[in-house]
Amino acid sequence: MKPSIMQGARILATGSAVPDNCISNQTISNIVDTSNEWIVTRTGIKERRVLIGHDKSLIDLAAIAAMRALDKSSMDPLQIDLIILATSSPNDLFGSASQLQDKIGAINAVAFDLTAACSGFVLALVTATQFIQNGSYTNILVVGADVLSKWTDWSDRSTCILFGDGAGAAILQACPSNENGILGFQLDTNGSQAKQLSIAYEEENQELLKDSELPIVQGSFKYITMNGKEVYKFAVSEVPTSILKCLDLLSLSSQDVDWLLLHQANERILHAVADRLSISSSKLISNLSKYGNTSAASIPLALDEALQKGIIKVDDIIVISGFGAGLTWGTVVIQWKC
Ligand code: COA
Repeated sequence: MKPSIMQGARILATGSAVPDNCISNQTISNIVDTSNEWIVTRTGIKERRVLIGHDKSLIDLAAIAAMRALDKSSMDPLQIDLIILATSSPNDLFGSASQLQDKIGAINAVAFDLTAACSGFVLALVTATQFIQNGSYTNILVVGADVLSKWTDWSDRSTCILFGDGAGAAILQACPSNENGILGFQLDTNGSQAKQLSIAYEEENQELLKDSELPIVQGSFKYITMNGKEVYKFAVSEVPTSILKCLDLLSLSSQDVDWLLLHQANERILHAVADRLSISSSKLISNLSKYGNTSAASIPLALDEALQKGIIKVDDIIVISGFGAGLTWGTVVIQWKC
């Protein structure tokens, strides 16, 4: 959708953080029946970062990413009005954003979680943009963070090769409408295919409670399950359509795109989407060989690295698309303004 803009919104700065522990394909091949060659050929992933032991949590990664973004924008945490934490692996099922608020000392900020799996950062960026463009808030911290290593079945070779942990943050700020950098978006959901990728709640046999007056059945969340082929087909068909719809709405074409920043799931998906849009693969921003699929963190992590490299210039058009469990997918087109 092309927002009707009362107030502009733009990304002021980004930050990111990954765990220190680097797990190579070779290490994974010591755990499950796979090989470096298979993983690189099918996915483009060479290594990933994983939280090990008890030393750090999702909140630690999110807080480091957030503080890096705040430092780059020379902004005090007290200036933040709203924090949106996109995550599917919170510390607390009631939400983790408030812990992040406390950790970075952003005591003036309202904070809430947003769950939309690998599309989470796109949904959070679009949500934050609404609060700014309608004049409600001035400074918003958007964080995408996930620690899917906690929800990975490390004996399942079809999924454990894919995921890594990380966090990425962006500071979104109000600006004059002629400086608006969040140009438009297109969001979609298909719940009928939710089973293709999920971390399902599973009921457990509770013999003890069965005959009680309150036979409530309880359970827990288990591991990621995925139909890789179906998710692959979904991504390469729906993502280009979403991007074309969004560009069309903004009277832009594929030729106007300077950078294509897709959720970092699989190198083959990135190239297939670029091909379908006739966008040169030299315009793809990609770092998944180093981090694997970091879910909601993957887009802000890749954006932060691209900005650090200095490849994105003022007024460049960046097409950002997320896709994943839900199934959810979405595109946001931004123009770099800082
Ligand atoms: N190492 C070695 N062999 C493996 C393997 C592994 N890690 N994982 C699966 N295989 C085997 C399969 O058992 C199968 O063997 P078979 O032919 O004897 O039955 C063979 O490799 C092909 O499996 P398949 O599932 O068809 O592979 P694929 O080419 O579809 O690649 C994915 C698998 C997971 C890499 C790919 O489907 C994919 O990336 N899908 C999208 C997943 C994704 O991005 N999810 C997150 C979205 S947010």
